[in-house]
Amino acid sequence: MSSLRDISWDQYQAFSLAQKSGVLAKGGGPLHVLLPQQFDRANLDSLGELATSIRFIAKSKEGSLFLSSLLPHKRAMLYFSQPSTRTFLSFLSACQILGLGIGEVRDPSTSSEFKGETHEDSVRTFSSYFDLIIMRSKIGGLAERVAWVLSHSERPIPVVNAGSGSDQHPTQALLDIYTLQRSFKDIGGIDGKTVVFVGDLARGRTVRSLSVLLANYSKVHQIFVAPPEFQIGKDVLDLLTSKGLSWELSSDLDSVIPRADAVYMTRVQDEWDEGAVKKVDISKYCFTVDKLPLLKSSAIIMHPLPRRNEIPTEIDHDPRAKYWRQMRNGMWVRAALISRIFECDHEIEAYAHAKR
Ligand code: NCD
Repeated sequence: MSSLRDISWDQYQAFSLAQKSGVLAKGGGPLHVLLPQQFDRANLDSLGELATSIRFIAKSKEGSLFLSSLLPHKRAMLYFSQPSTRTFLSFLSACQILGLGIGEVRDPSTSSEFKGETHEDSVRTFSSYFDLIIMRSKIGGLAERVAWVLSHSERPIPVVNAGSGSDQHPTQALLDIYTLQRSFKDIGGIDGKTVVFVGDLARGRTVRSLSVLLANYSKVHQIFVAPPEFQIGKDVLDLLTSKGLSWELSSDLDSVIPRADAVYMTRVQDEWDEGAVKKVDISKYCFTVDKLPLLKSSAIIMHPLPRRNEIPTEIDHDPRAKYWRQMRNGMWVRAALISRIFECDHEIEAYAHAKR
């Protein structure tokens, strides 16, 4: 298959997701991380192992010094024009673990975009100073456009999508998969498990990306629990059906909790409301304390965070509540991803192997 640099933007846009994933892979160009469809089961398994190796190595001073000696000659630009606390800090920490230098633009009103410069020109400017762009934008598809523009420039550098529009958040899905891998490692892994998604599934990009990644596992059953206004998109359901995965829609959380191996809670994404604010009663879609007895002892509760009232803080102390651990997992997975982009992953695995 050709690379991103060999095709026009119109051709790229007309591609199927599978074709897009093909041209984003390495071979004639940098490895961009833009879509969850770029990851298959083998990638997910090895990325999880790499994240665990980094976590293990980083425990000692000697190990931390080794990790930070890997990429001091590389710099990353964190271009976050949409609010973020966790994802920003997680990428920042991941870069620091590997010794990368970091630059940031968080408020485009302080950059030349304010003077009318296009996103494309701003990003080409970044590529003059940096070796990697990690970007979050409220504009769906902007990360793909930037990757395409850079691939056609003299300094094509990799782009990582840290959340685009209400559409995709592939690296959040990677850390969610890593959390599921670790939580289920002694009970047969992710295959055959039932994952229940709850809340604003129509505009929750983390749900959309994770649901797609779960299609890499066999016999995973997905249940989408939401009010009709916030139910998951047909495109995701069609994809699951085409991969032979079972799913169901529900509006009754209590009735599905006993079957869940993982309950993935989300907040209402009202920043996407257009015009009049949607008034939807979500009280039925909160994981309140009275629901804990309904949940299996081996099951876990996840949330991409930030939360509002979907999960009261009393739940945090239940051993099945994994959202804080899930957040920390993001730092290890993102470090693993960056080490893979810059091809120092084998060195990390060799170091971990020698120390174990
Ligand atoms: C999510 C996001 O920004 O899409 N948060 C995150 O990245 N951890 C979910 C959210 O904002 O609700």
